[in-house]
Amino acid sequence: MTVSTLLALGLIASTHMVAALAPGDAEAMYDGFNNALLVSSGSAVFYKKALDSEDPDGTWSASLNILGAEDAFERTGDQDKQALVNSLLTTWLNQTPPPWSWDGWNDDIGWFTLALIRGYQMTGNSTFLDEAKYGFDYAFGRGWDTKYNGGGIWEQNPEYLTSSDGPPNKQALSNDSLGKVACMIYQSTHDSDYLDKCQLIYNWVVSNLYESSTGQINGVINETGFVTPDSTAAYNQGTFLDYSNLLYEITGNNTIYDIAQNALDYAMNNLTVNGIFSNNAGYLNTWADEAARGVGHFVRDQRLWDKYYAWMVKNADAILANRRTDLNITWNGWDTPTSDDNTLSANKFVSAMAWLQFTPPTQPSDKPGGVHVITNNLTGMAIDSAGTFGNNNPVIQWGLNNGLNQRWQLTQNSDESWNIISLSTWQALDCGASDTNGAEAIQWQSTRDSNQRWIINELSDGTYSIESQATGKALDGGSSTTNGDALIQWGWNGGSQQRWVLH
Ligand SMILES: *[C@@H]1O[C@H](CO)[C@@H](O)[C@H](O)[C@H]1NC(C)=O
Ligand SMILES: *[C@@H]1O[C@H](CO)[C@@H](O)[C@H](O)[C@H]1NC(C)=O
Ligand SMILES: *[C@@H]1O[C@H](CO)[C@@H](O)[C@H](O)[C@H]1NC(C)=O
Ligand SMILES: *[C@@H]1O[C@H](CO)[C@@H](O)[C@H](O)[C@H]1NC(C)=O
Ligand SMILES: *[C@@H]1O[C@H](CO)[C@@H](O)[C@H](O)[C@H]1NC(C)=O
Ligand SMILES: *[C@@H]1O[C@H](CO)[C@@H](O)[C@H](O)[C@H]1NC(C)=O
Ligand SMILES: *[C@@H]1O[C@H](CO)[C@@H](O)[C@H](O)[C@H]1NC(C)=O
Repeated sequence: MTVSTLLALGLIASTHMVAALAPGDAEAMYDGFNNALLVSSGSAVFYKKALDSEDPDGTWSASLNILGAEDAFERTGDQDKQALVNSLLTTWLNQTPPPWSWDGWNDDIGWFTLALIRGYQMTGNSTFLDEAKYGFDYAFGRGWDTKYNGGGIWEQNPEYLTSSDGPPNKQALSNDSLGKVACMIYQSTHDSDYLDKCQLIYNWVVSNLYESSTGQINGVINETGFVTPDSTAAYNQGTFLDYSNLLYEITGNNTIYDIAQNALDYAMNNLTVNGIFSNNAGYLNTWADEAARGVGHFVRDQRLWDKYYAWMVKNADAILANRRTDLNITWNGWDTPTSDDNTLSANKFVSAMAWLQFTPPTQPSDKPGGVHVITNNLTGMAIDSAGTFGNNNPVIQWGLNNGLNQRWQLTQNSDESWNIISLSTWQALDCGASDTNGAEAIQWQSTRDSNQRWIINELSDGTYSIESQATGKALDGGSSTTNGDALIQWGWNGGSQQRWVLH
């Protein structure tokens, strides 16, 4: 056989395919982005506008950069990354203080508040929650309009339009970014008003912009209900996908799972070239960072690695193969070599960095990562949050019913320990302050500190041990079969009351 036949058969690797995803690449891309673009000046910490600029990137554009830094914290739980998120948002708020009435674009407020609410969930800094609520309430208050299309949020609020802007329209972008924010404010506060708005906006988008036959999200609808053809883009599709995953997890509504999967398949099959996201148009400051989040969260939580992992790696490999090797940054055209033009804006490079944060170097197995119901191997009782929101509430056991109170999201830290988050309270399983045998496990706002980090090992019989990193004690059912009894910790003794079954 000739070399070209072997190549065609995939039996040997092309010499161009030297960059295969490896451990450390996600960190290298994060370091590359920061080394090239992050500035610390006095107490200010910000991303600059472009490689050849010293000025801080501003407003929505800066928010997109910060969302990329948040992805790196999400992947690792590292304290230095948490501190960076806190500093970036603090500087951003100093430079962009509310009120935001100077900005008529509701999707801008969407990006501001998305960076802020995620920042609150990552740092616990309540200023970020307060400003996210202010921004959402402001954009929703002025932008939601049922006069046309039965609802939806104006992309640019009508009173801000100038003659050159054309007639007002409503777009997927502002609705989906703000819809995600509403879901996340609900996760953080359990204020049902935000869940109602999250669902209201979602249902409007599904009715007006989603094509159920293909999974496509249209970008724009005008006052008379005309949907702009070809207004679909990877950023819209990805934002909607992430929104769908969030709302599915919050409600357990299976219709929304199916919509999310359709939206993902459309992105993969119809918004890529040879399977690779690639669009380097000048106006696309960002392109696929929200696609990275949407794909990353949905595939990770719903454990769809068998179907999507190879495709995710294909994109990661293209990103690595086409990066600027002097800086380790890749622009939005993932399938072509990154330009060495230093005037390109900072967030041209954020999507590639984000994609790497959500593509693990080896295919994760079905357990322990993702969303699971967890039952005790002695009693069959499930670990249950009881749906009680607020720090210091107990984690109980209850007969298996597979409800939201019994669904837990398992994600990993860079030290390989696991975070265990309730899908009904969105709080973390926490060992509490005590390491005495019999101490009760509690729920607490996620901090990712060692009280909330769990060492999970598969045992020879296929069950799992779950041990607190802080206390070294094992999660233990206490041999109780009474609904409502607390989950406790106890020194490891190998008994089946300390073994857990992941479903
Ligand atoms: C770029 O990242 C790779 C790992 O992906 C690393 O080996 C290399 O040293 C990095 N180069 C620069 C300039 O930082
Ligand atoms: C929380 O954010 C505010 C506003 O950005 C900042 O002033 C404050 O220092 C932050 N708090 C902590 C504990 O870092
Ligand atoms: C969401 O809907 C509103 C109201 O119709 C609209 O103005 C806005 O542009 C939409 N947002 C997006 C991103 O399409
Ligand atoms: C589930 O989600 C779909 C799509 O948003 C919605 O139409 C339906 O009403 C929801 N079902 C329930 C029970 O809320
Ligand atoms: C909406 O778009 C359609 C198609 O371009 C156009 O015919 C219609 O006049 C537009 N409606 C408004 C209110 O601009
Ligand atoms: C999307 O891609 C799939 C797979 O290539 C193809 O079958 C389908 O026709 C495409 N859909 C659209 C709307 O282009
Ligand atoms: C306990 O684990 C063993 C080994 O996997 C299994 O055979 C048994 O069914 C489990 N019992 C319960 C109640 O989970």
